[in-house]
Amino acid sequence: MNRFRALVVNQTEDDFFLGVQELSLGQLPAGDVTIRVFYSSVNYKDGMASVPNSRIVRSYPFVPGIDLAGQVIHSDSPRFKEGDEVLITGYELGVSHYGGFSQVARVPAEWVVPIPKGLSMKEAMAIGTAGFTAALSVHRLEENHLTPDKGPVLVTGASGGVGSTAVAMLSRLGYDVTASSRKVEEHPYLRQLGAKAIIAPEALIPEKNRPLQSEKWAGVVDPVGGKYLPHILSAVKYGGSVALSGLTAGVDFATTVYPFILRGVNLLGIDSVYCPMEVRTRLWDRIANELKPNQLLESISGEISLDDLPDTLGKILRGEVRGRMIVSL
Ligand SMILES: NC(=O)c1ccc[n+]([C@@H]2O[C@H](COP(=O)([O-])OP(=O)(O)OC[C@H]3O[C@@H](n4cnc5c(N)ncnc54)[C@H](OP(=O)(O)O)[C@@H]3O)[C@@H](O)[C@H]2O)c1
Repeated sequence: MNRFRALVVNQTEDDFFLGVQELSLGQLPAGDVTIRVFYSSVNYKDGMASVPNSRIVRSYPFVPGIDLAGQVIHSDSPRFKEGDEVLITGYELGVSHYGGFSQVARVPAEWVVPIPKGLSMKEAMAIGTAGFTAALSVHRLEENHLTPDKGPVLVTGASGGVGSTAVAMLSRLGYDVTASSRKVEEHPYLRQLGAKAIIAPEALIPEKNRPLQSEKWAGVVDPVGGKYLPHILSAVKYGGSVALSGLTAGVDFATTVYPFILRGVNLLGIDSVYCPMEVRTRLWDRIANELKPNQLLESISGEISLDDLPDTLGKILRGEVRGRMIVSL
């Protein structure tokens, strides 16, 4: 494996390159664990890392890919040995450290999670950062007292990666899920994942702008943010919570204090990247068991090769990827 293939992004003053190249082990960054990567996956952040003047990549040339699953081929850490099946999501992978769109990766041992029993390497990447973020959102909502008897739970951006996995996980746990999606053609898919009701995002915005609407949502998984968020907050039930993870509809929002001071609503920030290892490993165990979506490989995820990546990275930025896309290396 001294020579292997990887997706490389490079930008100079007057040129931009995105394509597959052959690399050698000597070109990989330092790290105590070397992994033969079998699968990676495509996330929105990878799309952002693969365009000119990206604010994600810190220096060029670079190998993106914020997720990977594979087998250890060399370890200087006593925690891992050759042949162990492992996964990584987040930390600096695919941001300032060569990432998972590569047949071989070398990483710090502190980032590495043993793949739990009940999950294959491929299933781990069908989940990936987006699915882990959905699981973390569910975990934080439950920590804030969400239970299935409290009422409907809203999932925004429902046909996307975080959204699809959140709909499937919440449905498996017995929640009454309302999916918000711009895509009418994905309604059958969302019903198949377990959504009881489906609405268009515009339906979240009332005709008359009021600081408080009638109480609808016991909890919300929101990877979309932007202009919808103030209206979502104003329709959360007393004591309910919004787990906010994303920005596909924008980074700014303006709200009033009323949902917080009159209804005790919680706005929970969700960060999967530096999620502490203790929570991370516990959540991956849950993902391998009661949170594991039914039909994870059959309908939530598709599979592409390294060579298909440039096209798929463009699609995820345009909101055209359904569910999760696994990259087979
Ligand atoms: N905080 C974290 O740790 C963390 C981790 C993972 C992801 N994220 C963030 O979460 C977001 C979603 O990631 P993802 O991987 O699920 O991406 P994705 O697969 O592209 O899904 C995003 C979904 O958002 C909806 N959407 C896109 N543009 C929109 C717009 N202008 N207005 C309303 N809805 C829009 C679309 O759903 P519909 O077409 O169904 O409406 C789209 O499928 C991204 O912002 C990503 O950076 C954060």
